[in-house]
Amino acid sequence: MIRAAITAVSAYLPEYVLTNKELETMVDTNDEWITSRSGIKERRILRDKDKATSFMATEAAKSLLQKRNIKATDLDLIIVATVTPDFQYPATANIVGDNIGATGVWGFDVQAACSSFIYALEAGTRFIESGKHKKVLVIGADKMSSIIDYTDRNTCVLFGDGAGAVLLEPSTDETGIIDSRMYSDGSGRKSLYQKAGGSLHPSSIETVTNKEHFVSMDGQAVFKIAVVKMADVAEEMMTRNNLKAEDIKFLVPHQANKRIIDGTAARMGIDASKVMLNIQRFGNTTSATLPLCLYEWEKELQKGDNIILTTFGAGFTWGATYIKWSYDSK
Ligand code: UT7
Repeated sequence: MIRAAITAVSAYLPEYVLTNKELETMVDTNDEWITSRSGIKERRILRDKDKATSFMATEAAKSLLQKRNIKATDLDLIIVATVTPDFQYPATANIVGDNIGATGVWGFDVQAACSSFIYALEAGTRFIESGKHKKVLVIGADKMSSIIDYTDRNTCVLFGDGAGAVLLEPSTDETGIIDSRMYSDGSGRKSLYQKAGGSLHPSSIETVTNKEHFVSMDGQAVFKIAVVKMADVAEEMMTRNNLKAEDIKFLVPHQANKRIIDGTAARMGIDASKVMLNIQRFGNTTSATLPLCLYEWEKELQKGDNIILTTFGAGFTWGATYIKWSYDSK
């Protein structure tokens, strides 16, 4: 059986730092509330009006190619996970391919809200395992600031912008992506969604006036189910693979709320020192959280380390992936 392995990781973060202090000047909130409820201190914002998700995805892709010392034309497939594509169509993967000079390389976008990256990783893995492709670039990128209402304190404190990318190649040994389990339950779709702009409620003066193009969220409803499902699927991954807490080097959780992450780690019996956590600096970057964690912790990962990725997002969507890490970082 051919196994897929992550062989390189990269990221891009916009420079502008939006702090809790600055948010205090924008909406009725305060640093204490944001920190205690979510764990977030600051987030990055792509302020340039002429730059979108494809810009961040392109920067992450370029640095990954450079790091792995391969050409864009060496790629077989580009998958972009995003909920904030540059356009409804064409796909952002299409634009990234053009930007990096990946002539003749096909690609598509995957949209599964905060589970977009893990779903995209799953798709990319299958293309490697099938033997059809040798190099699949999986990017998670979101310009959440483009769909956030900065007068709505319920949502504007939570999200940030960013991009992360991984390269998938056939594993040459026993390491790589070992197991995964994806879920979805569409009955939860109205707890977290963008009301207008799709074919049900196309853009109109009314939808704009009613602010229906922004993130709409029932935070408590999402929280209640997220804290259960993210832990359930992570535990399922441990049980299915006979992994005990001490066998796991790192838990890589989606960064939506530190309390959800803490709850997941506690259920798994994993100590906080083994949890990748950067929500305090980047907030919830939706499709980018998992690759951003991998990028930041890459130097601490060694070949053979067991890591579990787990996520929960709108839809509802959730899933977990068990990876035996494939390389020592130089
Ligand atoms: O990534 C995709 C999945 N997304 C998530 O997983 C998000 C899940 N939800 C959450 O993380 C949490 O529900 C939040 C962080 C969004 C909110 O935390 P909470 O403990 O559930 O607070 P709450 O919604 O119950 O609100 C408590 C109070 C409310 O006031 P009242 O009605 O009790 O008077 C809110 O209006 O806090 C108020 N509030 C705020 N206060 C200060 C809401 N947002 C803010 C704010 N600053 N930014």
